[in-house]
Amino acid sequence: MKRVILFLTLLIPFFYLLVELFILQSVTDPIKYIYTVTGSTATVILFFTITISLIRKYINLIPYRRMIGLYGFFYAFLHLLNFYILDAELDFSFVIKESLDKPFIYLGMIAFFILLFMALTSTKKLFAKYNKYHKFVYLALILITIHFIMAQKSLSILQFIYIGIILLISYCKLLQQIINKNKI
Ligand code: HEM
Repeated sequence: MKRVILFLTLLIPFFYLLVELFILQSVTDPIKYIYTVTGSTATVILFFTITISLIRKYINLIPYRRMIGLYGFFYAFLHLLNFYILDAELDFSFVIKESLDKPFIYLGMIAFFILLFMALTSTKKLFAKYNKYHKFVYLALILITIHFIMAQKSLSILQFIYIGIILLISYCKLLQQIINKNKI
């Protein structure tokens, strides 16, 4: 039951996007809007997956961590599709050129390929073999944060609050690693 509720909850941003785009048709710049909704949702979900071990004493979401992480990948994939299909209009050479020329785009691409690797190796069998490489999620999150900041012309108060939350989560994770290592 919990799994079904989580499954449906994580789909809300996707349905929200569809309703705004196709039913309400209230969006003036759909490409930018899709970047914002998919990029922000992927970022929030991925940061949430690394906080799951921090909050397990209060709410145990460990059994659902894989599903939640895959949702993060799903929204990042939609974000990439927006770039390739709507923004680049399926022009693969444009995608390659942008990815090589703009640091902001290639940081996003590197992060995406790390997430792709993690999604592909998240099955029980492959996870047992590749789990040590899943630590690369931290590198992906650093790249995503830089990518997200570089995407802004200027930062609003809300975005400063997001960055504050990201720093707080990173600090707590670091503390957790130190405590686990030294078994304090
Ligand atoms: C696959 C490679 C990626 C490409 C080509 C890409 C492309 C873009 C572009 C062009 C924008 C600017 C949109 C605009 O303001 O007009 C953007 C923004 C953003 N991207 Fe990416 N991105 C990639 C990967 C990622 C990943 C993996 C994440 C997170 C998991 C992400 C999260 C974000 C966020 C949060 C924003 C800011 C959205 C906003 O505030 O409007 N991106 N991306």
